[in-house]
Amino acid sequence: MIDVLDGVAAIDIADQLGEVFGAAFGAPGYEDTQSDGAAFAAEQLPAHAARDDFKLVTAQVDGAVAGFAYGFTGQRGQWWPDRVAQAVSAELAAEWIGGHFEVVELAVVPGAQGRCLGTALMGELMLDLPHRKALLTTYVDDRPAPRLYRRMGWQVLVPDLGWGSSLYGLDRGVPVGR
Ligand SMILES: CC(C)(COP(=O)(O)OP(=O)(O)OC[C@H]1O[C@@H](n2cnc3c(N)ncnc32)[C@H](O)[C@@H]1OP(=O)(O)O)[C@@H](O)C(=O)NCCC(=O)NCCS
Repeated sequence: MIDVLDGVAAIDIADQLGEVFGAAFGAPGYEDTQSDGAAFAAEQLPAHAARDDFKLVTAQVDGAVAGFAYGFTGQRGQWWPDRVAQAVSAELAAEWIGGHFEVVELAVVPGAQGRCLGTALMGELMLDLPHRKALLTTYVDDRPAPRLYRRMGWQVLVPDLGWGSSLYGLDRGVPVGR
């Protein structure tokens, strides 16, 4: 079952989301990534939940949160868009960065992976968004996450930003009402 949460509802289940985050990013093969679920729940999530158009989707399995994804409207002046803008061409930055929908996290607990939950979460997260452009960074190497994004129509904008991440973009066409 997939649910859509706003910032308040997401913070209400921050501990569960932190556990999913820690399990997904703490799995073998993800040693180099940030996997501190408690810090995610206490710091990153509350900071991001206050951003414009914050949207978080959860997948429930047997009554427990087994996966989630979230994003918000990214703007220049924020850490991530500014960092990415400095690493790409001026043309690419002008076309893609600022007012985009920023996909920040996607995570499914290892025991529930390979059952299309990640795909369903991304589908629901992107559904009905008014943004024309969407952005995310993901792993440079061949893993489930980049494969999933490419399968769902995302294009590689920059294969390697210089810190082991690729920049992916999705041009969603003419926006409705924006
Ligand atoms: C990326 C992630 C969220 C994907 O979650 P998931 O629920 O396993 O995603 P899906 O099940 O939709 O797809 C994963 C694979 O299972 C396959 N799959 C899905 N349902 C299937 C089924 N019924 N039968 C066989 N294979 C299936 C998909 O084709 C896909 O295969 P691929 O990796 O070879 O392309 C998960 O691997 C994860 O949490 N990784 C760690 C954190 C991470 O990398 N997050 C993203 C950071 S950018």
